[in-house]
Amino acid sequence: MEKSLRFDSLLVHGGLESGPSGATSVPIVQSSSFAYPTAEGLEDVFRGRAVGSVYTRIGNPTSEALERRLALLEGGGTAIVTASGMAAITTAVMTILRAGDEILSSSSLFGGTFSLFRDTLSQYGITATFVDPLDLEGVRSAVNERTRLLFVETIGNPKLDVPDIPELARIAHEVGIPLMVDTTVSTPYLASGAALGADILAYSTSKYINGTGTTIGGVIIDRGVFNWNSPRFPHFEMFHKKYRQFAFTARVRKLVHKDLGACPSPFNSYLLTEGIQTLALRMDRHCSSALTLARFLASHPKVAWVRYPGLEDSPQHAVARKLYGGRFGGLLTFGTGDKPSSFKVINGLTLAKNLANIGDAKTLVIHPASTICADYKSEEKKLMGVTEDTIRVSVGIEDVSDIIEDFKQALDAI
Ligand SMILES: Cc1ncc(COP(=O)(O)O)c(C=O)c1O
Repeated sequence: MEKSLRFDSLLVHGGLESGPSGATSVPIVQSSSFAYPTAEGLEDVFRGRAVGSVYTRIGNPTSEALERRLALLEGGGTAIVTASGMAAITTAVMTILRAGDEILSSSSLFGGTFSLFRDTLSQYGITATFVDPLDLEGVRSAVNERTRLLFVETIGNPKLDVPDIPELARIAHEVGIPLMVDTTVSTPYLASGAALGADILAYSTSKYINGTGTTIGGVIIDRGVFNWNSPRFPHFEMFHKKYRQFAFTARVRKLVHKDLGACPSPFNSYLLTEGIQTLALRMDRHCSSALTLARFLASHPKVAWVRYPGLEDSPQHAVARKLYGGRFGGLLTFGTGDKPSSFKVINGLTLAKNLANIGDAKTLVIHPASTICADYKSEEKKLMGVTEDTIRVSVGIEDVSDIIEDFKQALDAI
């Protein structure tokens, strides 16, 4: 049945297997481990000769239901859910790179990913070269013999630039490396991994997938399309022999995810499986209200600038329209000229919450330069699209008139 279902129906039904109880929501299997009547039975599962659960760090039936649904939404492949978006990115990247290898990464990144690539992984001999993902020639010429991966966010958070992902996939494939995308901001609703031509996805489910700001989670998707049988990836040889196009999934599951141990709790997987059902409805509202708010802000005399790919004068409007079907996401940024006036706006808002998250049903704001990007040098902040006056808004699903009124009264008062 699932094969014939459309996206919005998969959000509700995908991956659910009806159990003997007739329950229509996924059962929460809150158990660390799973008993087998015989030693032979457990050995078979450990050796992959039989299917079954062993230990929740390695796999859990509640999490597996979420994995099946998330993979279907990307147009097929496999999914491995993790404790957070950062856990997904860390696990996925460490599966591909070894000491001496290099990540070619977009410079427009979520701060945590930037810090992972620049500070944490470099301690283990994995280095990163940061490039502007809009400069396709620059990306191509930055590839060298040590490059093992091209990493990019589909819509940069917080820069809100929109790289041409299919073009980046073409460059990556020409040089024989996989393209990994973080689709946290675009979600599979704006475009699936299959539509974008990405090989691997690693993203946070804490945001729009959950939708209500209750749960931290992440996922790695392997679309099973990259050829790992390559001299660039000798460490995949054994996995490729046995698992062919799913060599990456096997290396994640059997090695890195198992060893890093960043698994989700079954309860969180349950909450995410519940939350994702309304993704399409919520994203439509996030996108339309973000466009309405962006237009309002652009016309307000106290606003110095607005960045939103849905605005016709955005430099990436055409690419965003092409890739995401006329939907531009729920994030926008704007500035009022300086930090004190930005703080006044944030302090004057009554509906929007001032906090470090995105993708909630509620409208959220943050001043990135003094919070999530506070540890970065000014040139690094610039690369991330953050100035001293930047306010990032994650537009919620409230009545858009209430959102506009909130920003109007806060701006009028500065
Ligand atoms: C684009 C992007 N990727 C990854 C992450 C990390 O996700 P998590 O907070 O679930 O670890 C975030 C978090 O804000 C994000 O915005």
